[in-house]
Amino acid sequence: MSVLPHPQPSAQQPIGVFDSGIGGLSVLAALRRELPHERFVYLADSGCAPYGEKGDAYVTARSLAIARWLLARHGIKALVVACNTATAAAVEALRAELPGLPVIGVEPALKPAAALTRTGHVGVLATRGTVHSGRFARLRGAHEGREVRFSVQACDGLAHAIEQSTDAEPAPAAAAQARTAALCARYVQALGRFGSEPGAIDTLVLGCTHYVFAREQLRSLVGPQVQLIDTGEAVARQTRRMLEATNTLAPDAPRDEPAALLFTTGVLPALQAAAGRWLGLPPQACTLLPEL
Ligand code: DGL
Repeated sequence: MSVLPHPQPSAQQPIGVFDSGIGGLSVLAALRRELPHERFVYLADSGCAPYGEKGDAYVTARSLAIARWLLARHGIKALVVACNTATAAAVEALRAELPGLPVIGVEPALKPAAALTRTGHVGVLATRGTVHSGRFARLRGAHEGREVRFSVQACDGLAHAIEQSTDAEPAPAAAAQARTAALCARYVQALGRFGSEPGAIDTLVLGCTHYVFAREQLRSLVGPQVQLIDTGEAVARQTRRMLEATNTLAPDAPRDEPAALLFTTGVLPALQAAAGRWLGLPPQACTLLPEL
């Protein structure tokens, strides 16, 4: 595979962000709060979603194609992989193929969960790809022990149902929302007992960026005393540190370009609906990209 020449990044260039679909918008929201002077280019690979059940070779090939497109078309200065599944499968390949480009990945928040749990029992929801990855096994091994144990559930179909919940047509959207609720109930039940009593799960890790958009359903299933943890804020802070280290933080100055450009390889109105609902962005911020 050829290595793309990468010019020295400058502070004015945008940050690239991608996910298999709309899930990474939860990370983009945190990035925009943490880094209000930056420009972002977001790619939702909804035409190829979900990644979680497709296997590493496929996810790595998609991740490399997207990263190259973001570099070639938008000259990004850093890349945020706003997808646990793509990070698990492809972050090493991205760093090897695109040397000089800072790459920030996301991984399920096992470390903060281990620090927060009082009962010593943490639940983890993630995609099949993430759960079966070597990266996840190493992460789990680093934080599980006598004090803390993890119950882990691979959630086939859940990211896909959440993805389809933003369908512009009301009937399919309602059907997908019902599927999302049913899958949340099934997977939460499979994890075991929730609560603050000894042995119960008192901390639930949302190990897929899509699941943040099912937070309310999950909250109502596990009860008010359980802590739900995602990684958006931590990834945004890590991105800031990376930009500071490479001296590429955007200056606090007025700019002409829009603060966020969004692209999808899937259905444009679905991305527009999600971007409007969760980030307050206008439909014109979104563009269809069928050819990638
Ligand atoms: N949002 C992704 C993640 O964080 C992947 C969802 C999928 O496409 O399966 O894992």
